[in-house]
Amino acid sequence: MFGIGIESSCDETSIAIVENGEKLHSLQIFSQIKSHAEFKGVVPEIASRIHLEKINFLLDQVLLESKLTLQDLSYVAVTNRPGLIGSLMIGANMARCISLVYNLPIITIDHLEAHLSVVYLEDEKPNFPFLGLLLSGGNTSIFLVRDHGKMELIADTIDDAIGEAYDKVANMLGLDYPGGPSVEKKANLYTPSPVEINPFPEILKDLPREEMKFSYSGLKTSVLYYFKKNPHDTEKICYYFQKTAFALIEKILLRAIKKTKIKNIIASGGVLANQTLRTHLDLFAKKNASNLIYPNQKILCTDNGAMVATLGYYLFKKESFSGLDFKVSPSRL
Ligand code: KG4
Repeated sequence: MFGIGIESSCDETSIAIVENGEKLHSLQIFSQIKSHAEFKGVVPEIASRIHLEKINFLLDQVLLESKLTLQDLSYVAVTNRPGLIGSLMIGANMARCISLVYNLPIITIDHLEAHLSVVYLEDEKPNFPFLGLLLSGGNTSIFLVRDHGKMELIADTIDDAIGEAYDKVANMLGLDYPGGPSVEKKANLYTPSPVEINPFPEILKDLPREEMKFSYSGLKTSVLYYFKKNPHDTEKICYYFQKTAFALIEKILLRAIKKTKIKNIIASGGVLANQTLRTHLDLFAKKNASNLIYPNQKILCTDNGAMVATLGYYLFKKESFSGLDFKVSPSRL
C-alpha cells in the first residue's frame, strides 16, 4: 500500500511516498534556508510564498522518482499542526485537492509525532511505550508515547529550544545560519586540555530532583559574556556550548527513564543531525541499558514528507481520517 506525505509547516517544502509505513520510495525536499539566512530566522510570509512556488514541482518530481501515479495511492497524509499557519495551508490545500480528485482519505498529522515516527523506516522498529526525545529548532521535549496518535508531553523547555539556542549562539559568534551545523563544525576543531574547566555553569543546577525541564537562555547569556571577554575563543565556546547543552539533555532523559521505567527511547528532530550528540546519546544508552533508535540518515532528522507519510500509514490502519474541512493550527491542539 502506497501513501503520500506532505510537509510544509515551516521552512522545508517536502513530499514523499512510502510503502506500508516502512519503505521510502521517493522523497523530495526543498529547503528554504538560503531565503531566510539574511534574516537569521524564518520569515513566515516568505516561507508560505516559497511553499506555494515549489509544491507542485515537488509533487511531479516525487511521482517521477517513484514511477507511481496518484491513482496508485491509498491515502494522503499532511501536516496540519503545529506550524506557521500560512505555510500549513499550502500543504493542506494540496492534500485536499488530491483527496477530492482521487477520492483518497486524508490523514492529518501532528508534526512532532511525525518526527518520532520516521524511525519506522529504519530496520529496527520501536516498541510501545517509548520515550520520544524531540530536539529541533522549535522543540526540546520528551514525550511518553503509548501508541500512534497517543503521546503525552512529560518534559519541555521553559524558554529557548535547543536548536534555537544553536542559531542564536551562531549569530552572536558571527557564524552562518542555521547555527547547528556551523557551531558543530567549530566545536569539532577544538581539543580541550585534560585539566581544563568548562567555562559555562551547569544548566538548572538546582532543579529539584523530580522536575523535568529544559532551559537554554541562561547558557546563551553565559556564552555572550564569555565571548565579549574572549572574542578569539570561538572554537572553545562552541565546544563547551555543546557539552553543556547535551549534559542537560542526558540529565533530564535519565529522570524520565527513572520516572516512567521506560527504557525504549526514540530521538529525532533537526539537532539529531549533530554527530557529537549522536555519540553522546549512544554512550548514554549503553550506560543506562536503554534501547535507543534515531534516524540513520541525517536528512530524515530535519523536516521531511517521509515522516508524514510514515505516520499516515499507521493512522490509516486505525481509520483516523479527516474531512476536507480539517483545520490547520499553530499548536498541537
Ligand atoms: O527539525 P528542524 O529541521 O526544524 C524544526 O525546528 O522544526 O530543526 C532545525 C534546527 C535548527 O535550529 C538547526 O540549527 C538545528 O536544527 N540543526 C542542528 C544541526 N543541524 C541542524 N543543530 C545542531 N547540530 C547540527 N548538526
